[in-house]
Amino acid sequence: MRITKATANLEAYTPGEQPKSKSVIKLNTNENPYPPSPKCAKVLKDFDLDKLRRYPDPVFMALREAIASINGAKVENVFVGNGSDEILTLAARAFVENDEMIASLDPSYSLYKTLAAIRDVKWVGSSVESAKIDIPDNASLFLWTNPNAPTGGFTSPKKISAFAKKFKGVVIVDEAYGDFAKENCMKLAIAPKNNNIIVMRTFSKSYSLAGLRVGYCVGPKDLIEALYKIKDSYNVDAIAQAVALAAIKDRAYHAKTVKKVVQTREAFVTELKKLGWDVLPSEANFVFARPKGMAAADLFDALRKRNIFVRYFPGPLTGDRLRITIGTLDEMYKLLLTLKKLKA
Ligand SMILES: Cc1ncc(COP(=O)(O)O)c(C=O)c1O
Repeated sequence: MRITKATANLEAYTPGEQPKSKSVIKLNTNENPYPPSPKCAKVLKDFDLDKLRRYPDPVFMALREAIASINGAKVENVFVGNGSDEILTLAARAFVENDEMIASLDPSYSLYKTLAAIRDVKWVGSSVESAKIDIPDNASLFLWTNPNAPTGGFTSPKKISAFAKKFKGVVIVDEAYGDFAKENCMKLAIAPKNNNIIVMRTFSKSYSLAGLRVGYCVGPKDLIEALYKIKDSYNVDAIAQAVALAAIKDRAYHAKTVKKVVQTREAFVTELKKLGWDVLPSEANFVFARPKGMAAADLFDALRKRNIFVRYFPGPLTGDRLRITIGTLDEMYKLLLTLKKLKA
């Protein structure tokens, strides 16, 4: 049996822990603490099992139409993936030659680096989030997380647009957390004059559907067509298409859920600052913050022992902070009480 060198040497991506116990306060993978829209429950309850005998719509037309309409885009400019992670995998295949590179901010979503390794191409990171970015000439795909993870920092559409004008390859603005921010880059993706900007979104965060695996992107027709050419025939299953459609149509529920998360984030940041923590400005559903009275790694362990899961990323750029997902008000209150007890 032969395994390619790139696969054999691969340092695989490690997703955040998914503890079995329900009593855990789980603030480690940026999931939404509120349930999906009740309209999703109804779709599942009424789902005609007979539909599963047949293959699903390979081009997810009903869902695409809804996505296009909500974003002011044309159907031909919309692609849907099995989570936005699948779109990233396809983009690494469609937009990068073997001798080119994938670039992103650094720190950022660590899967990007793994995708480059799987593709057996180099990855390069820019440590400056919003200022000048120095990228080698043979970088052909820039993955710009906005708001960024794990920092929560936001870059203005104007700045991203100026960057894309100079960049020779494709820029994917990964707006996994975009719904929690004040602004987004969708207008860049649908502007006919832009030919290299794709905006990517997911149902995993603001729609509370991480388990469903649906993400989408909007961009220039030729780039979107390239993704359709290389995708698996039936990459989004029939149930996922139906549930995602119900979720995206329920605008009022989505707005209400996003508002609750954002309000809780603001209240939590205020309290953390009162404890003397250094909190980076966040436009996402998490905060990246440095404890006052304890090393981040030690606090991570201490919280874990008390059944509170947050995320710790070791390393020089991230190792002095914890990334804490915004949960319910009650969960954040319990976390704050624990932090006070630990004198963190
Ligand atoms: C920046 C970023 N992009 C993409 C994803 C993947 O999202 P999905 O669940 O749609 O695959 C995540 C998940 O945490 C993320 O943090």
